[in-house]
Amino acid sequence: MAFPPLMNSESRLPLSFTKGAGCWLFDEKGQRFFDTTSALGTTNLGHAHPVIAHALALQAAELIHCSNQYYSVQQRQLAERLCQASGLESVFLCNSGDEANECAIKIARIHGKKRGIEAPAILVMDKAFHGYTLATLSASGIRGVQVGFEPLVSGFIRAPFNDIQAITQIARANRNIAAVLVEPVQSEAGVIPAAPLYFQSLKTLCERLGWLLMIDEGQTGNGRCGSYFAYQDYGIVPDVVTTGGSLANGVPMGACLAGAGAANCLAPGQHGTLTGGNALACSAALASVDFILANHLGERALDLGERILQDLRHELGGNHYIRDIRGRGLLIGIEMMEPCGEIAPLAYTQGLLVNVTAEKVIRLMPPINLTDGEAAELVRNLVRLIRLYAGDDRKKPRHS
Ligand SMILES: Cc1ncc(COP(=O)(O)O)c(C=O)c1O
Repeated sequence: MAFPPLMNSESRLPLSFTKGAGCWLFDEKGQRFFDTTSALGTTNLGHAHPVIAHALALQAAELIHCSNQYYSVQQRQLAERLCQASGLESVFLCNSGDEANECAIKIARIHGKKRGIEAPAILVMDKAFHGYTLATLSASGIRGVQVGFEPLVSGFIRAPFNDIQAITQIARANRNIAAVLVEPVQSEAGVIPAAPLYFQSLKTLCERLGWLLMIDEGQTGNGRCGSYFAYQDYGIVPDVVTTGGSLANGVPMGACLAGAGAANCLAPGQHGTLTGGNALACSAALASVDFILANHLGERALDLGERILQDLRHELGGNHYIRDIRGRGLLIGIEMMEPCGEIAPLAYTQGLLVNVTAEKVIRLMPPINLTDGEAAELVRNLVRLIRLYAGDDRKKPRHS
C-alpha cells in the first residue's frame, strides 16, 4: 500500500476504507472488517447510519454554516436537546472533545478567579486522558502524551483515581483548587470505571469546597455506558460536562455543557470558534441524540455490555494470559497479562479491527445499536483471536 503524505503523528495499520455499514468497514478490495471500536468510540450508531446520513444530506443542501455571530435553528435545537438530556443549563458547541475540554479548563479558571483565587488549579487524575492539545495533554495523566511537549501548561494538581481520601488530603494542602476534571470510566487508562461512592463523595466535596465538578464524557457519553451521559447513573448532577465526536456519530463535534454555577463564567469575546457548532454537524448531532433517546439505546448498551462481559468471562476468564475483563455498558476492556499491541495487526488478518490501550488492554467500543447476532459474532471472533494470539489451541483458529 502506498502511504499518503500525512504526518506520521498517529500509528496506523496499512488498511484503507471506502465504505462502512453499522459495525462493518469495507476496504478498497471490498473485503469487510468488523470494527469492534466504532472508530474509537465515535460512531456510536455504527458507520453510515441512515438517519445520520439523511440528516446530513438534507442539511448540506440547506445551510452548512452561518458563523457564530448568529444562531442557526439546528444549533438552538441541539443546545436545547442537550440541556434537556443532561439537566444542565447552557452549552458551548465546538469541533472536538479536546476543544470541549479547553472550554471547561477556561471556565474553571474564570470560576476560580471569581472566587478570589489568583492562580486557580484544576484537580486531575492519574492516568486520565483529556486530549492532545497543550492544555488537555497537560491535564492528562498519561505520561506518553506529554513527553516532548514540555513545558506543560501549569495549573493542574494530580490525584490518584478512585481515591476520595487522597483528594481530601490534597484539598487541605491546596487552597487554590477551583475545579475537578474526571472521567466516569478512564478509557485510555485501560477501561477503569469510577466507583459510584467515589463519584458521589466527589460531588459532596465539590459542593462543600466551591469546586466545579467537571466530567469528561469524551468516551462514555452519548449512550455508550447506560444513560445518555454516564454520570447520570451515579445519581449526581455535575457543574460541567464535556463530550466529543460521538455526539454527532463521528462528524467533528464537541460540546461543553454547564450547570447554573458555571453557565455564566464566560463573557462575550472570552472564547469562540469559527466552525464549531455549525448547522451541518448540529443536524447530525440532533439526529443522533434523538435516535439514541427514542430507542433507549443507553439501556440497550448497558444490557448488551453486561451480556458480552459475561460471555467473555465465561470463554476467557481464568486463562493464564487474561488478567481481568471489565467495563461499563459497551465500553469493555480485556486486560492481558502481557503487553499485547501485536494483536491489532493479527486481528485484521482475521477480519477484526481491535484497539489496544494502556499496552495490555484490548478495548471494545462496538456500536450501541449492535444486534444480538452481531454481538454473538463479536464475542466468537474475539475469543478465537485472543486464543490464537495467546497460542491457546483449545479451539482451532480460523485462517483468512
Ligand atoms: C476522555 C476523552 N476526552 C477527550 C478526548 C479528546 O477528544 P477528541 O479526540 O474528540 O478531541 C478523548 C479522545 O479520545 C477522550 O478519550
